Amino acid sequence: MKLKTQNLLTLAELSSKEFLGLIDESIKLKKELKKGGNKPLLKNKTLTMIFQKPSTRTRVSFEIGMYQLGGYAVNLLSNDMQLSRGESIEDTAKTLSRYSNCIMARVYDHKLLEILSEHASVPVINGLSDTFHPCQILADFMTIKEKKKTLRGLKIAWIGDGNNVCNSMIYGAALSRINMSIATPKGFEPNKTVVNQAKKSTNIELVTDPFIATRNADVIVADTFASIHNIDKKRLQKFLPRYQVNDKLMRSAKKDAIFLHCLPAKREQEVTSSVIDGPQSVIWDETENRLHTQKALLAALIHV
Ligand code: CP
Ligand code: NVA
Repeated sequence: MKLKTQNLLTLAELSSKEFLGLIDESIKLKKELKKGGNKPLLKNKTLTMIFQKPSTRTRVSFEIGMYQLGGYAVNLLSNDMQLSRGESIEDTAKTLSRYSNCIMARVYDHKLLEILSEHASVPVINGLSDTFHPCQILADFMTIKEKKKTLRGLKIAWIGDGNNVCNSMIYGAALSRINMSIATPKGFEPNKTVVNQAKKSTNIELVTDPFIATRNADVIVADTFASIHNIDKKRLQKFLPRYQVNDKLMRSAKKDAIFLHCLPAKREQEVTSSVIDGPQSVIWDETENRLHTQKALLAALIHV
């Protein structure tokens, strides 16, 4: 499949049909890989990856994903690039566009991705910014679809910080008509514009009580209370103990509810080991699915 958008920075660039199509395509690629290997959809194509922040899953899944589709990925740590000596992001975008068919970047400031995409002549993918993490949501919704066989009409309970992953999940919920109840402490709600946009297509509820969010929920989601860009040491006090996903909170959702976490996790903070390692947790399938969704996305964006 081909996408209308050149870039994926938030998920708002996609239509429902495209978003759901990418998930179905990812499921097909997963089956194909397990049967012996993927077709070389990206033979001789290249991806450059800029990382301003650490990464395990995003880096490895993009790099191995390109390899499995017959392409090649170059990993660039921003500290080793001329960017760190003051070369502009505009010139970096133009340079990387002459070498590679796609640029993926993990940045502190989302604005940087916007500048990068304005000046690149190849697709730009957001590999996580301070406000969005669209690639994570493709994998999360693929996992939900695999486990629940459907997306429309389900209920997700997001517990904790209304952060970058939460903002992208709200877009994902709108695109797939999933309902979301988001429990955060006051002052840690997700982005208002994103919530208002999503409310046009689905139910998005903002609450402070985690037990209201989990009522009748099919999926419970947690993420760290302090994202990489949050440096306030007192932050944790605002979340603990109330926003920890533990056995008691899990019991307040549907019996067959599943637990998701994008990882890395801070065990015994936002989630107990009993939940993350428990029978309702699907985190390892979620992690694996990063690989399959990156491939579907790359194949849909790179079409030169
Ligand atoms: N979930 C996720 O993006 O993980 P990494 O930070 O390891 O890439
Ligand atoms: N919200 C987390 C996600 C890490 C994958 C962060 O931004 O650090």
